[in-house]
Amino acid sequence: MMKETDQIQIHNHKERKMFIGVVWNCAAELKLLLSALLFLCSLITLFQFFPSSVRDLRGCASFPPPSSAVQFLTTTIIPPPPIEPRQIKKLDDVVLEGGLIKRNFNGYGAAAYNFILMSAYRGGVDTFAVIGLSSKPLHLFSKPTYLCQWVPHNVTENQQNITTPGYKILPDWGYGRVYTVVVVNCTFPFPVGHDGAGGQLLVHASTSGGGDSNFDLTDTIEALTESPGSLNTLQFTATPKYDYLYCGSPLYGNLSPQRVREWMAYHVKFFGEKSHFVIHDAGGVHPEVMDVLKPWIEKGYVTLQDIKEEERFDGYYHNQFLIVNDCLHRYRFMTKWMFFFDVDEFLFVPKKGTIKTVTDSMSQFTQFTIEQRTMSNKLCYLDDTAGKIYRKWGMEKLVYRDIKRGIRRDRKYVIQPRNVFATGVHMSQNIMGKSTHKTEGKIMYYHYHGTISERREPCRQLVNTTNLNVEGTPYVVDTTMREAAGNVKRFELRMIGPVLQRTRQ
Ligand SMILES: *[C@@H]1O[C@H](CO)[C@@H](O)[C@H](O)[C@H]1NC(C)=O
Ligand SMILES: *[C@@H]1O[C@H](CO)[C@@H](O)[C@H](O)[C@H]1NC(C)=O
Ligand SMILES: *[C@@H]1O[C@H](CO)[C@@H](O)[C@H](O)[C@H]1NC(C)=O
Ligand SMILES: *[C@@H]1O[C@H](CO)[C@@H](O)[C@H](O)[C@H]1NC(C)=O
Repeated sequence: MMKETDQIQIHNHKERKMFIGVVWNCAAELKLLLSALLFLCSLITLFQFFPSSVRDLRGCASFPPPSSAVQFLTTTIIPPPPIEPRQIKKLDDVVLEGGLIKRNFNGYGAAAYNFILMSAYRGGVDTFAVIGLSSKPLHLFSKPTYLCQWVPHNVTENQQNITTPGYKILPDWGYGRVYTVVVVNCTFPFPVGHDGAGGQLLVHASTSGGGDSNFDLTDTIEALTESPGSLNTLQFTATPKYDYLYCGSPLYGNLSPQRVREWMAYHVKFFGEKSHFVIHDAGGVHPEVMDVLKPWIEKGYVTLQDIKEEERFDGYYHNQFLIVNDCLHRYRFMTKWMFFFDVDEFLFVPKKGTIKTVTDSMSQFTQFTIEQRTMSNKLCYLDDTAGKIYRKWGMEKLVYRDIKRGIRRDRKYVIQPRNVFATGVHMSQNIMGKSTHKTEGKIMYYHYHGTISERREPCRQLVNTTNLNVEGTPYVVDTTMREAAGNVKRFELRMIGPVLQRTRQ
């Protein structure tokens, strides 16, 4: 009904007709409403002695009975047209000298926001990152600009009100849809608010016309407000609290609680005590998934963020580029290394190594990538009786590795976030320092594509050969993860007890 209520505020005759059209589109509900109203009016006609609280309604009793519901609507419910004209004056076509017709174009409203602010974080005493979405065509075909302003709570000699151009980064590789992700880097020529006096970061976002030379709309965004005494500049140089922090992509759909359980236990064990997981719920954390996360949240390993509101804005894959950039800047100074991969992927370091030996050997790199081992998401190893397979963990039964060559294998990546200004999904391009792909054999990830988003048994085909070919794809048995499962199960039991033993697919 919301829409119809809005429509009642219409102004001219033409629009009124449209309103009636709209009304009749929801005839069923409306008929009921109208009948109720008619009934009320007749009641009022009968009982003229109503108390003052319904005086408004008495007015309708003095009207002649409506000949039809439509007339009733147009004559009584709709308020008289307001005197004020619409803001935009319609320009008619003009016939010029010589019969030339000058056509006019009348614009109404805006189809996408100029900027949707998600967050803003400090990156140092003089620098900030402002993260949000913006109309994609605006960025593709026009040149919107950003001006950053620091407004101290108290303007003094040391703390001035200054502006600096914002440097915009579009980290989503053109994958955006209606909206694209924008990270505005505001770096001032000198420290602002560093004395702890507090202040506000404003970003003035100008559309530069969006291609329309008649307009250059500028919106002012209150990006960040620092209350006096709230800034702790030590955070920028202190040893980070965590060694490893996982920034998850938005979780959506009907996720398998059991697969999430396996992933959590495996990775808490893999990363160890000084690790943390930031999980973003875009609708995928239903009550049974929540049950699985809860013990780890209580242990302090997981932070869960509800980002469902982002669904209002049409971006790429539940706005994942927006979410990972927020995560980057939010936790930039809290961790030494930051990991970006999915919950159907399992990191692995071969024997003799640990995640620590790998990251230590990579310390001179800002970023390194991780190769993929593609696992079948439906072929299962039949070494036991078929009836028991249901109770096995995904990593135990899905052991067939795709060894087809030449196909593109996505890599996942790890960064030292203090040197990164914006991040993508498969790699960061706005970094300071070096990147390397030379990690073969040191660290890899097992990818069980799509197994997390299904709640039925993943095994579709039970096989017992070590080599096989399915629909042209060659597979070999790879029991690496299967061998790790026992330790992970014991680890889970030791850490959180038996609470998750009855988790289902
Ligand atoms: C903004 O960019 C500058 C220069 O590249 C960089 O030094 C600074 O750390 C960046 N700030 C943030 C918050 O990413
Ligand atoms: C701002 O300055 C006024 C007057 O000098 C002072 O009373 C007030 O406490 C100051 N506020 C802050 C946040 O420093
Ligand atoms: C900051 O400076 C601008 C332009 O110099 C001025 O218009 C604005 O009023 C100032 N704001 C404050 C809070 O001092
Ligand atoms: C492998 O499976 C086939 C049928 O699927 C069965 O006939 C055969 O005995 C099995 N071999 C072993 C070694 O389990």
